[in-house]
Amino acid sequence: MSTLHEIEKLKQLQKEALLGGGEERIKDQHEKGKLTARERIELLLDAGSFTELGGFVTHRCTHFGMEKKKYLGDGVVTGYGTVAGRLVYVFAQDFTVVGGTLGHAFAEKVCRLMEMAMRNGAPLIGLNDSGGARIQEGVESLAGYADIFLRNTLASGVIPQISVVLGPCAGGAVYSPALTDFIFMVDKTSYMFITGPEVVKATTFEEVTKEDLGGPQTHSTRSGVCHFAMPDEKCCIEMVRELLSYLPQNNMEDPPFVPTDDRPDRPDDSLNALVPDSAKESYDMYQVIRSVVDDHQFLEVHANYARNIIVGFARLGGRSVGIVANQPMVQAGCLDIDASKKGARFVRFCDAFNIPIVTFEDVPGFLPGTAQEFGGIIVHGAKLIYAYCEATVPRVTVITRKAYGGAYCVMNSKHVRCDINYAWPSAEIAVMGPDGAVNIVFRKELSQAADREEARKKLTDEYREKFASPYIAAELGYVDEVIEPRTTRAKLIKALDMLKNKRDTNPPKKHGNIPL
Ligand code: HXC
Repeated sequence: MSTLHEIEKLKQLQKEALLGGGEERIKDQHEKGKLTARERIELLLDAGSFTELGGFVTHRCTHFGMEKKKYLGDGVVTGYGTVAGRLVYVFAQDFTVVGGTLGHAFAEKVCRLMEMAMRNGAPLIGLNDSGGARIQEGVESLAGYADIFLRNTLASGVIPQISVVLGPCAGGAVYSPALTDFIFMVDKTSYMFITGPEVVKATTFEEVTKEDLGGPQTHSTRSGVCHFAMPDEKCCIEMVRELLSYLPQNNMEDPPFVPTDDRPDRPDDSLNALVPDSAKESYDMYQVIRSVVDDHQFLEVHANYARNIIVGFARLGGRSVGIVANQPMVQAGCLDIDASKKGARFVRFCDAFNIPIVTFEDVPGFLPGTAQEFGGIIVHGAKLIYAYCEATVPRVTVITRKAYGGAYCVMNSKHVRCDINYAWPSAEIAVMGPDGAVNIVFRKELSQAADREEARKKLTDEYREKFASPYIAAELGYVDEVIEPRTTRAKLIKALDMLKNKRDTNPPKKHGNIPL
């Protein structure tokens, strides 16, 4: 056989591999409003940067006529390339090949890629679109999932892992994305559930559509499973690229420095007038965040879940920071179960990947009520304390208004190892707000007062004057500086610059026992 002939054969195979399940199925995929695995990779990576690995792998299954259903690549496209010039590893499940289902060879390809990503220290991005375990491969496909779960877990905190769900993701298959750092979903085409609507109906008699059960709306607002719900695949993949720009390649590196023309000492006079005089009125914490960060750019994570707390990425003086902020406009910024989980997970991600944490605090306390107590606010609230307590990255807090009760301790107080604590003059730092405190401390006086309302007002004013300020905390050194709000950006950048070589460690241990 001539070399020319062999090269022809190679070209033929390459062409065949590029077609996945074939033209007809590619057409079906497009008709469902979905891109193919290769089109998705093309959108994700810098043009021409993709190098495929294992493109000729096929399965070895011979059950149920599978020997006649062989496709080069076996339903998953794996390889590496760059995003904004930085190395990433990517796998894309190919729904055109046996519904993107996972068998033994498929799983081996993904596992090999995961190991490579870990060894070489670069993010792993999974583009998911699959019917789940390939039924014909039986327990081998279950083994394949478990092999992937193990590697997801070992890679956790070593390299950023991002899951993009762009089609079905059902049964145990959901647990690979769930073990990764961020889940993206797309309107109308993606859904995730442990059991689909039919099984739900048969077991619990509930009737629910697959969108309501596991669509992006549900998972980005109610369950919190999804961090980013995007309107279409193109925006979704663009958002993945943007997210990566804030992250380091691995846990041994710092996030990339992005120079900016935004002056580090840029003041914002509007912040001086932002906090209303009345403690009962609210203001929008997004205004504070967008005002202080570089170029007003804030990439929010979990935007529609537990909106009483805001988390996301931004830059200050060119360096990535993770922002955690109470939102007084939603439930007065109270901490509840969902907010605690959301905040804790984000703080731990930042800590694992050397991203300094900036906290903006305006919190009246933990949310009261039976729903919260029965739901375990004690254990879930503890997650947020635990996450802050163990974080060793640079940490700065700005108390804009309320810092009451246990929530004061939790929200990155000096006592849980925050490095620099600022307070605005409007800060109120105390065990509880004036009304509640007066009712408890002066119960007897109030019951005996001739004019109870007058007495209550006098005592409340006295309490407010004495305790509802930042100055007692500043006298004790719990607040490092009371700052004019307009200078917040400059103060934060100075503090983070001072902290840039911070080294801190936790006691040696196998691992802690975070209250799960
Ligand atoms: C083998 C499968 C398959 C599966 C789909 N296909 N799911 N083959 N194993 N799990 C095949 C179909 O037979 C079909 O092949 C092709 O993929 C496309 O599927 P369609 O049904 O035509 O597509 P669509 O109408 O878009 O529906 C997609 C779907 C549906 C919603 C995913 O196929 C479906 O419900 N599949 C079963 C999902 C499921 O129950 N998976 C197991 C979950 S449990 P042909 O050649 O006929 O076109 C699980 C356990 C993991 O994953 C455990 C980990 C611990």
